[in-house]
Amino acid sequence: MHEAGIDAAASLLRPILGGVFNMPAKRLLAHYKIDPRTNRLLMVACNAEDMLLPRSNFTFYEFDADFALVHKREFVVPDHLMIHDWTFTDSHYVLLGNRIKLHIPGSLLALTGTHPMIAALAVDPSKRSTPVYLLPRSPEAEASARDWSVPVEAPSQMWSMHVGNAFEERNARGGIRIQVHMSGCSYQWFHFHRMFGYNWMNKKLDPSFMNIPKGRELLPRLVQVSIDLDKRGTCRGCSVKRLSDQWTRPADFPAINPNFANRRNRFIYTGAASGSRRFLPYFPFDSVLKVDAADGSARLWSAEGRKFVGEPVFVPTAGRREDDGYVLLVEYAVSDHRCNLVVLDARKIGERNALVAKLEVPKHLTFAMGFHGFWADE
Ligand SMILES: [Fe+2]
Repeated sequence: MHEAGIDAAASLLRPILGGVFNMPAKRLLAHYKIDPRTNRLLMVACNAEDMLLPRSNFTFYEFDADFALVHKREFVVPDHLMIHDWTFTDSHYVLLGNRIKLHIPGSLLALTGTHPMIAALAVDPSKRSTPVYLLPRSPEAEASARDWSVPVEAPSQMWSMHVGNAFEERNARGGIRIQVHMSGCSYQWFHFHRMFGYNWMNKKLDPSFMNIPKGRELLPRLVQVSIDLDKRGTCRGCSVKRLSDQWTRPADFPAINPNFANRRNRFIYTGAASGSRRFLPYFPFDSVLKVDAADGSARLWSAEGRKFVGEPVFVPTAGRREDDGYVLLVEYAVSDHRCNLVVLDARKIGERNALVAKLEVPKHLTFAMGFHGFWADE
């Protein structure tokens, strides 16, 4: 679509999305970040009409510890993308783009109001790579010759799900190497309406979608993306590999010791499927996996019996080692329809005595499948 055509479409869509669908002009992405180096809260917003157009507007905000806005950057990218999670390094905001396109029959249904706006979208698997947008975090970072509106094409097609961490280091070319630890799934499997088995039409959970044959290859898995830029910012290499050779089962919701965000981290904790259930082997997850990125090894803690777990949260203690701390997660016990807050000693995951405590969650707060979590020190 020509640039003027997109402008016209955008100005037509804005009042419809705002008036009919009650969408604000900008929507914040659910995932925010904390940069421990600068002690800032980082957030990003998209324009409401982006979902429907081959052009994406990203506004990044950085807030200080008093929630004062101290930094703001805007980017327009000529691509039709859906972004759920994202990450950052010292010099860049990093977006792994999921390619989408308009689904015409679905668009008509969305316009009738009987279907959500997301019905208007379909995945676009036409390119065999994954676009990685490296957007300069500061004017100084923008000064390199690199054109940020052109993505690095990672040599593997994946639908990016969640990011555990990213960091950059000087490389031998006088430039930087950016590494991202994340989860991604296959375009062949991704489905807007059935993710994690939640059906918005009847408001029921049906995890069978997450347990299809070939689930090992198609469902979310942990990967490491590495990008080498030379001193002019030109990409000299990009690779995608499994984060752990020892773990080939589905996993998602990667978390790290938050003190290690935006610097080289070694350990990643993530929800995972032990695969030991005969029925529904891959989802809901029943385990927490601790991956050591240094050697690719993987250690597991599994809930006993019919219990499901959500995202692990790492709570650091005073120790200096990266895995000095607790891993918290909420476990759902199917038979008593109750949740427990599980506290694990992060260093002991994979050993017999990793469990430190298990606390019953009050009954009125029971939820069958929890995803994200957060911990704040008081
Ligand atoms: Fe998420």
